[in-house]
Amino acid sequence: MDPVRNPYAPGAGQRPPELAGRGRELDVFDVVLERIARGRPERSLMLTGLRGVGKTVLLNTLRSQAITHLWGTGKIEARPDQSLRRPVAAALHMAVRELAPRHRAPDRIDGFLGVLKAFAQRSTPPGRGGVAPKLRDRWQPGIDVPASSGRADSGDIEIDLVELLTDAAAVATDVGTGIAIFIDEMQDLGAEDVSALCAACHELSQLGAPLIVVGAGLPHLPAVLSAAKSYSERLFRYQRIDRLDRIAADQALCAPAEREEVEYEAKALDLLYEKSGGYPYFVQAYGKATWDHAPRSPITAADVRVAAPEAEAELAVGFFGSRFERATPAEREYMRAMATLSLVEGEEGGGRDDMDAAVPTAEIARSLGRKPASLSPARDALIKKGLIYSGERGTVAFTVPHFGRYLRTQPA
Ligand SMILES: Nc1ncnc2c1ncn2[C@@H]1O[C@H](COP(=O)(O)OP(=O)(O)OP(=O)(O)O)[C@@H](O)[C@H]1O
Ligand SMILES: [Mg+2]
Repeated sequence: MDPVRNPYAPGAGQRPPELAGRGRELDVFDVVLERIARGRPERSLMLTGLRGVGKTVLLNTLRSQAITHLWGTGKIEARPDQSLRRPVAAALHMAVRELAPRHRAPDRIDGFLGVLKAFAQRSTPPGRGGVAPKLRDRWQPGIDVPASSGRADSGDIEIDLVELLTDAAAVATDVGTGIAIFIDEMQDLGAEDVSALCAACHELSQLGAPLIVVGAGLPHLPAVLSAAKSYSERLFRYQRIDRLDRIAADQALCAPAEREEVEYEAKALDLLYEKSGGYPYFVQAYGKATWDHAPRSPITAADVRVAAPEAEAELAVGFFGSRFERATPAEREYMRAMATLSLVEGEEGGGRDDMDAAVPTAEIARSLGRKPASLSPARDALIKKGLIYSGERGTVAFTVPHFGRYLRTQPA
């Protein structure tokens, strides 16, 4: 059918034509926003899940929801080896700029911006998540007021963040709403920054201040947070973002098609679900290829069969291959061993070929004929690159759904 009218949107962070199966998360967040704006105690949300399940898209939707509630918002994408100081300053700057036009006392805004500037210009000493001076000097906050001193500028990120966020929350209190800072890829924050962020959230919730941090990250994000502060489990509400169930996956495909007056035969939807496993990225990829290949409505199972190789070829390049290429030869060898073992484990557990089980690291070492310690660098590098994660001690699993199956089909 007409590719110009193809509604599906495979791609990282691409807004889907229909955000299916996330009603619960949206409802919960509505309540969180309302309660926090009224000074009620409430835990913020942390979205966790595998690659391509729709964390970024949901985080962006929650941000829109906060804006609808007239909250100030800002967003950060955490990166390994990058200090939180500058990005958090930029995000708060954005959030307060959204609130400023509704504020009755411009000097209060200027006061906050002075503190923000001092915070941003202060470097965090190396070893505490600090960045090299050269990089730092290039940053232009675009704030006209002079930097103030004596607040949020101690150099200790934990102290500074608590002070800065408290002041930002006070601005939001003045206008009767709140501020939400969204952090994507949150597992990539440095340990000091995670710790500081938890401490700040803890302090803010005790004060009943209307500022929340909403995060998204890989499945081991809860472990990253609780390693920093043991009370983090009580601070955040973790929401596991998972594959879509059959009803939601069908809706993700049918609702956008209906708007174009296109329908699916039931058998086509059966086959699409079998192929995608309900993973949102795959739902979009198979949906898109099928649309392009189908000659007319209704779309049939035969259309899906014809289109599937194209969807798979695109996934092999865009979803799997691009990630595999980030790994060194030693890391690839490690992942190949994982792929073989995860299938065996999966079968024992009654799993299917599309479900990769977690694999004990000791078994990977055994299968490669190596000492476990000698494989630690490969494992740590793969975790840092976000390709694998360690959910339970002594095991690793792929962050990318169907990655084991993909690797098993690749020639060594
Ligand atoms: N609820 C949903 N319904 C339908 N499609 C969705 C849904 N959520 C996400 N998608 C689609 O899935 C794909 C992946 O979404 P997104 O980039 O948000 O995933 P992610 O979890 O952030 O992945 P990564 O860990 O790689 O960053 C996009 O093409 C998006 O359009
Ligand atoms: Mg994402």
